[in-house]
Amino acid sequence: MIIAIDGTTASGKGTIAKRLSAHYGLPHMDTGRLYRATAVAALKAGVPLDDAQALADLARSLDLADYQEAELRTAEAGKAASVVAVIPEVRQALFELQRAFATQDLGALLDGRDIGTVIAPDADVKLWIDASVEERGYRRWKELCSHGEDVTLEAVIEQLRVRDKRDQSRKDAPAEMAVDAVLIDTTELSIEAAVEKALAAIEAAL
Ligand code: C5P
Repeated sequence: MIIAIDGTTASGKGTIAKRLSAHYGLPHMDTGRLYRATAVAALKAGVPLDDAQALADLARSLDLADYQEAELRTAEAGKAASVVAVIPEVRQALFELQRAFATQDLGALLDGRDIGTVIAPDADVKLWIDASVEERGYRRWKELCSHGEDVTLEAVIEQLRVRDKRDQSRKDAPAEMAVDAVLIDTTELSIEAAVEKALAAIEAAL
């Protein structure tokens, strides 16, 4: 079984993906980490974020074990990730890795932006997780503050708007809901309620 979970930043998709992978005993890949690690590698090595070939080389030789979760989760890493994610050579370099994970015998659950449309268009179930930009901004702001980042709520909401626009308007694999995906809006939902809804949607689709 392949489960594809896509959606916007800070919509709750990461948490939902973790809970669902535990529930179904499916190996989980958070594909945003690949783009974040590529971006962090570039920032560390001083590679410009528009050098397609150098970035693709970094993406191809990624070892996720080299990165601390905390450094991948910063606002700077998220922003840089969405910049490198626009580059087709980078997406191509990360494609095989994701496709191989998606098609392993054990089945798989992947979360990202283009799983249901590009990486696993053949997935058994596709979910698109979203929430209002204000609610997502509030969640992300709380998370950043708890990690000691000094940012205002307004600035975080504005950064999300910019990131959403960049992700949705890129030519190669734009972040978009697959036609056969089920939409789950988490604006008014607790994480438990969102997971319940996701489980119900999956059971109905299987
Ligand atoms: O989900 P996360 O916030 O970790 O993703 C960081 C960035 O990586 C996204 O804003 C997006 O630009 C990019 N991404 C992508 N395709 C994916 C996963 C993430 O383009 N499948």
